[in-house]
Amino acid sequence: MTIGILTSGGDCPGLNAVIRGAVIKGDRIYQERFVGIRDGWRGIVEDDVADLPRHDVRGLSRQGGTILGTSRTNPFEHGGSERVREVMQRHSMNALIAIGGEGTLTAARRLSDDGLPVVGVPKTIDNDLSATDYTFGFDTAVAIATESIDRLRTTAESHHRCMVVEVMGRHVGWIALHAGLASGAHAVLIPEIPVSLDQVCEWVRSAQSRGRAPVVVVAEGFIPAGEERATAPRGLDAFGRPRLGGIGETIAPMIEEQTGIETRTARLGHLQRGGVPTAYDRVLATRFGAAAIDAVIAERWGSMVSLSGESIVHVDLHAATTVLKTVPRERWDEAAILFG
Ligand code: F6P
Repeated sequence: MTIGILTSGGDCPGLNAVIRGAVIKGDRIYQERFVGIRDGWRGIVEDDVADLPRHDVRGLSRQGGTILGTSRTNPFEHGGSERVREVMQRHSMNALIAIGGEGTLTAARRLSDDGLPVVGVPKTIDNDLSATDYTFGFDTAVAIATESIDRLRTTAESHHRCMVVEVMGRHVGWIALHAGLASGAHAVLIPEIPVSLDQVCEWVRSAQSRGRAPVVVVAEGFIPAGEERATAPRGLDAFGRPRLGGIGETIAPMIEEQTGIETRTARLGHLQRGGVPTAYDRVLATRFGAAAIDAVIAERWGSMVSLSGESIVHVDLHAATTVLKTVPRERWDEAAILFG
């Protein structure tokens, strides 16, 4: 059998460990052959496919990024199932493993609905897929964000400043919540829970009154209560183009103005997706890769590997792509007791 593998969507630490887990188990246990598809769905619609022998995946579990490359190409905008079927046939591919987030898995589900032999592997640093307890990449992103906040705190303390740290999370606040809790932030602002700027300033003042340098962790998708326009790009940059600053840059001057406390902001951005995965992510990603091969051998088309408690299970791709896993109110309330 020839099995194709692709990584698609935003990259994430652990992708290479999935590839290695799948190829080693597939080669050693089932004697299958692999081909790597370059840059996600782009590689399949443009027929950019190459052999992926076992020696190419040696030592990969500790390597960040993805050796296959990735893109945000949607196959349904480039010929859809017919084109994918044609390229798979040209390379005698009997199965396709698609590693990706919500967009990738939705495309995988549609291909499977059209009769293509596809198995999904969930990935995202945002941890927002509802059909798995955790996605690999999340633990690494939280570790990087926590270490960065610890570092930003010491400089804020030296200068008696407030520090606003923006982390990734367009739709959900899991990274902000976990990194904020781990680093002892005085406020955590997430897309799921609108909080007023007055409330944020109250937490900031309260922390400062106890001699602390206030630390505010904000997810990029946060919208302050009653300030819906705050996330839209405001004003122009030095070159006269629309300013592309994030929510952290928007609220930091507002906090400074309202509290009188000098405030700085740092946007962690893609640092959270780069570099080596944590041990937890390497283990989870390796297990996902190995389980994806079992799914292929069992011909569980249209399924996705998933973590349930300590076990790796197989779930329907439909279940995996319908609802985003948002932070429940009670998880935020539990953290909010520590704010201010
Ligand atoms: O993978 C999801 C994510 O990490 C979001 O939290 C963030 O908004 C986005 O990726 C950034 O993606 P890009 O690399 O395309 O800028």
